[in-house]
Parts: sequence; structure tokens; C-alpha cells
Amino acid sequence: MIDAQKSILENIRVVSGQLNRASVDHKHPFRFLTLCTVSEDLLPEARMVVLRKCDGLNEVRIFTDRRSQKVAALKSNPNCRLFFWHPKQRVQISLLATTVTLENESIAKSLNDESAKQYNSVVSPGSVIQHPKDAWVHDRNLTRENFYEIICSVREFDALQLRKNGHLRIKGKLGESGWELNWISP
Ligand SMILES: Cc1cc2nc3c(=O)[nH]c(=O)nc-3n(C[C@H](O)[C@H](O)[C@H](O)COP(=O)(O)O)c2cc1C
Repeated sequence: MIDAQKSILENIRVVSGQLNRASVDHKHPFRFLTLCTVSEDLLPEARMVVLRKCDGLNEVRIFTDRRSQKVAALKSNPNCRLFFWHPKQRVQISLLATTVTLENESIAKSLNDESAKQYNSVVSPGSVIQHPKDAWVHDRNLTRENFYEIICSVREFDALQLRKNGHLRIKGKLGESGWELNWISP
């Protein structure tokens, strides 16, 4: 994916294109990413999420339940890291982002009932339950009020290409005059 013969800018376009594709292609390896946050008691947390929308290396959007731990963590500390791995192409991408967590009524309304179900269990995610089935009880009216969107505005990225003949790594940092891009030693 990242090519030493191409300019940094050309490589960044390719990586951005792959991320954009993953937001619409359910089979793309970048479709599932690890979202890392810092908990309210300052402990590291990580979990898989789905890449729902993407604007290249600038912005990533994730859907979740308002009541989940990740939302509490991001409300107390809006910094997160988004971590991707493409096993075939051997590319790792790490994004540092600032997040906003919010209701998005228009997306919530557009969800079909099956999708809406993921965000409307009667018992809040993370609650202790007596039996697994206790968590499968859903609001009959399929309310969408727990649907939340996490908007991640990227301010740094690190892209690593593993290769037999020399690894490649590009770092980008958002400054006052735009992206500062550099090759860096892997
Ligand atoms: C492949 C995969 C995709 C997932 N996608 C999402 C997602 O898009 N949004 C979400 O809130 N949880 C998703 N989950 C569940 C989370 O990993 C996590 O278990 C759950 O959201 C609770 O996390 P929290 O308690 O840290 O907030 C996914 C899990 C897996 C294994």
C-alpha cells in the first residue's frame, strides 16, 4: 500500500482511499478497528468497533450506545487512538483523534429495526446480569434514544508498511498551517 518510490502525499492519498473504502466495504480489513480510550480512573481501554463513516485520514465516525463505557471515557477525556491492521498488505495505521460524542437523530431514525436493536437493550451495556438472556430484552417501541455517534477528528497519524526489503513509516501531524508529513524510521 505504501510505496517508497511514491511521494508522501501520493501514499497518504492511497491510505486515505483505503480507509474510505472500508467505510462502505463490509469485507475490507480496515472495517473493524480498535478504539482506545482512557477511562475516568485513567486506565487504558480498547475494544473493536466498526468504521461507519470516514473522511480519509481526517475524520472517522463510529456508532455506539450512549450508555456504554467508551462514551463515559470519552466524555471525561475526549482523546482516543484508532488502530487498524491490514493483514494481507501488512499495513498498520494508528490515528490520534479528538472526539465529540453526540446524538444523531437523523441517522438514528434511518436505522432499520435490526440495527436499532443494537442500541436499545433494556439493560445498559456493561451491567451485571443474572443470565445472558437478560441482555437480549429490547425496547418494544425500538426507541433510538440511546444511539450515539462518536466523531473522531484526527490530529496525528502513523502509518507503517511492513516489507521484506525495508519497512516504511509515515507520520502526519496537524499543525496551524495544515498537515506536516514526514517519513520516519520504523
Ligand atoms: C468485530 C466487532 C465489532 C464491534 N463493533 C462495535 C461498534 O461499532 N460499536 C460499539 O459500540 N461496539 C462494537 N463492538 C462491541 C465492542 O467491542 C464492545 O464490546 C462494546 O461496545 C462495549 O465496550 P465498552 O464497554 O468499552 O464501551 C464490536 C465488537 C466486535 C468484536
